[in-house]
Amino acid sequence: MNFKEIIQEVYQEIEKIEDTGELASYIPELANVDPENFGVCLSTLDDSSFGSGNCDEKFSIQSIAKVLSLCLAYNILGESIWERVGVEPTGTAFDSIVQLEINKGIPRNPFMNAGAIVVSDILISNLENPKEDFLTFVRSISKNSELNYSEKIANSEKSFGYRNIALCNLIKSYGNIQNNPSDVVDFYFDLCSLEMNCKELSELFLYLANDGISPFNNIPILTKSQSKRINALMQTCGFYDESGEFAFKVGLPGKSGVGGGIIAVHPNRYTIAVWGPRLNKKGNSFKGMNFLEKFTTKTESSIF
Ligand code: DON
Repeated sequence: MNFKEIIQEVYQEIEKIEDTGELASYIPELANVDPENFGVCLSTLDDSSFGSGNCDEKFSIQSIAKVLSLCLAYNILGESIWERVGVEPTGTAFDSIVQLEINKGIPRNPFMNAGAIVVSDILISNLENPKEDFLTFVRSISKNSELNYSEKIANSEKSFGYRNIALCNLIKSYGNIQNNPSDVVDFYFDLCSLEMNCKELSELFLYLANDGISPFNNIPILTKSQSKRINALMQTCGFYDESGEFAFKVGLPGKSGVGGGIIAVHPNRYTIAVWGPRLNKKGNSFKGMNFLEKFTTKTESSIF
């Protein structure tokens, strides 16, 4: 398969389509990004990468970081993590609050904000210095040991994050948050502010295409079974109320972020990161969704 050629071809096709999405503006700093950015990078298990467009420019990975925090918490707690957070899709938006009351403070999955906030609470309870230790974890599985948070983005979100604070307090009222809610959301905002480019992102996620083992240094991050389960969750819950459509049109486990990034994983084959900051109505990258649909169609690489 000539990935390089197909990526160029699909990139040029998508560049021509009018992007009807809009920048996320509820985190003021995210609205300052150039909306015309468009980058793609595919990485394979044999250590090749194929990039196009703005694939070397860093962006805010936002909710994509929820996969990394979940993997670290899963590694620490094992299967008991599922007593604190469910594994069901929501059919609702990323910041939805509606099911929390029905489920008595157990979020339906770890990728909706409520679930990622519970995962942040778990990490605070289990790490000595959560912010530093989480970054050390991310750097340890990356090829780039300089990856970092963006203080600007985190502070911007901290001053407007009322809804996440509300979610955290509601979960706390049901006893499913152990730490101080403001420490928990602060840490959650920090991890959402991680920045990287498409190349770094696609390389970072290769462990999920490699049965949980980082291919660069053979560090086992998850067991084979855990890696399979994270991929299953990305497939069913990674795009909120557009998860079904992503499975239908793209057919890969994946995760989006409001910074306009998407990571998708083809187990045992490749990972692909796409970045286009304008979001569709469901809050997922307009260009990213369209690119991946065309890419897996052309390469016939939907996992289905
Ligand atoms: O909780 C928030 O609002 C953000 N920090 C992350 C949300 C996000 O990326 C949703 N994903 N598509």
